[in-house]
Amino acid sequence: MSQLQGEIITADAPSSNLGNYEEAYANFHWEDVEKQFSWYVTGKVNLAYEAIDRHVDAGKGDRPALLFSDSARNETYTFADLQRKSNQFANVLRGQGISKGDRVFVFMPRSPELYVSILGIIKIGAVVGPLFEAFMETAVKDRLEDSGAVALVTTPGLLPRVKRDELPLLKTIFLVGEDIETQEGIVDYNTAMEAASEETEIEWVNREDGLILHYTSGSTGKPKGVYHVHNAMLQHYHTGSVVLDLRENDVYWCTADPGWVTGTSYGIFAPWLHGVTNVVRGGRFSPGDWYETLQRNKVTVWYSAPTAFRMLMGAGEDIVKQYDLSHVRHILSVGEPLNPEVVRWGHKVYGHRIHDTWWMTETGGQLICNYPSMPIKPGSMGKPVPGIEAAIIDDNGKILPPNRMGNLAVRTPWPSMMRLIWNNAPKYEEYFRIPGWYISGDTAYMDEDGYFWFQGRIDDVINSSGERIGPFEVESKLVEHPAVAEAGVIGKPDPTRGEIIKAFISLREGYTPSEELKAEIARFVKEGLSAHAAPREIEFKDKLPKTRSGKIMRRVLKAWELNLPAGDLSTIED
Ligand code: WTA
Repeated sequence: MSQLQGEIITADAPSSNLGNYEEAYANFHWEDVEKQFSWYVTGKVNLAYEAIDRHVDAGKGDRPALLFSDSARNETYTFADLQRKSNQFANVLRGQGISKGDRVFVFMPRSPELYVSILGIIKIGAVVGPLFEAFMETAVKDRLEDSGAVALVTTPGLLPRVKRDELPLLKTIFLVGEDIETQEGIVDYNTAMEAASEETEIEWVNREDGLILHYTSGSTGKPKGVYHVHNAMLQHYHTGSVVLDLRENDVYWCTADPGWVTGTSYGIFAPWLHGVTNVVRGGRFSPGDWYETLQRNKVTVWYSAPTAFRMLMGAGEDIVKQYDLSHVRHILSVGEPLNPEVVRWGHKVYGHRIHDTWWMTETGGQLICNYPSMPIKPGSMGKPVPGIEAAIIDDNGKILPPNRMGNLAVRTPWPSMMRLIWNNAPKYEEYFRIPGWYISGDTAYMDEDGYFWFQGRIDDVINSSGERIGPFEVESKLVEHPAVAEAGVIGKPDPTRGEIIKAFISLREGYTPSEELKAEIARFVKEGLSAHAAPREIEFKDKLPKTRSGKIMRRVLKAWELNLPAGDLSTIED
């Protein structure tokens, strides 16, 4: 377990915002972060104000806030522009009777309108629900239904995936596009924006009022709505400083889509709370395109994910030399284990260390990280953010000594901790079953120097390309296919994607296994749920291993796949 512990890459920026880690950790007080925000004076707050309007009030309205580009557009928005546009959208929302506490979803590809919509929703005190653009009918419906969403911002291209007749609470759809035909319940976004005033009354809310609802997957049941409040901005601001190391003139690029928590906490909130320029690139991943984006925008701080770094590593060193990446100062990663090999490669080829960060949708912000001022042990997630106490504990809550594997746990509470699982109190309680601790569901150990090392999940959640996929959601879709009698889904290790989705399927009477059938079943999931949830591998089996109560034993499927002993089979059917 400790063969990697000896390797160290020394600190590259001792004079970063954090400074000496141990000192910063020992002297940290959340109160010092709180003083940044208006609630210190008024008792009320609004994250959108702190992220946008505050900088305009401080005379920095002309500073570029958003550098957006995709294959069709290349646009710059200043903080003053975003203030005006988000005010307009706040007024558009209010014009439709939408108000504080309502859930308003956004479902569209990355575009300036997506970012403006999110800010506008927050400005009126409504709760944002981001949906990843790849979601299909079932995934969209499940989330809108569970949250009781009253409105949705989307595009004409994605509208067919929204089953309006099955969503009685969904009153208003704002369509972003050209030549929109308005009808009952459909509002033309652009026309409404043009007609709206550029000034608005911000809804001043309490720190504990709702901000955002991110749906994420567990190993059982439908996706759960992880609910965060405005108070989370403390964590976003703090980690923006000590982890992202943001400085006034930075140009920052987080490659994540706002459909995932990284794309909001660190693709919107942290950079704008710090008033830095935020790069957003539309379209799909390609190495040349990404390097060009870094070069053209003179990006200084770059936050991405292991799968992307592995693909860049696969694209080789030569392509890197074709671009001027000399502005890059700080590189970070999140979402899945960051291979030591990738850290070494990045250090050699980019001339910078890649700083791993660990956190989850539920934690709202980074908790265990590497810092520019701290030596990196490649393969380790780093140490707790100042203000955060993390530990490895056993199932009874006993703190384990160094080098012992156990539950990765965090002392409750912290500012960006989830405050609810929407409509599902029992699920929420499960995370806090040991008094005083949040149980992450990840296993890890801590070494003698206090570095944390990720080991795995305790449940069956799959992590493919950094995206969290619940096996239950995929299995439920699979059994809707007429050929499928039963299905069990696991994550299969993959050198690039971390894991891929593999489905074991038993067929109904009258169906014969074939490659065509496999392709058709995969397409069925892709078109009904989402592309990233579709199995990349399917294996037909006459029978699947089940418990006597009829539950498919994914653990046994995984053991089959990896040629491992299946462990305790006392509950298996026969
Ligand atoms: C995994 C993404 C290893 C972990 C912000 C966690 C990681 C889940 C790391 C959360 C890391 C995240 N090293 N594993 N640095 N970061 N994970 O909710 O299993 O999409 O529980 O949040 O991703 O995924 P989520």
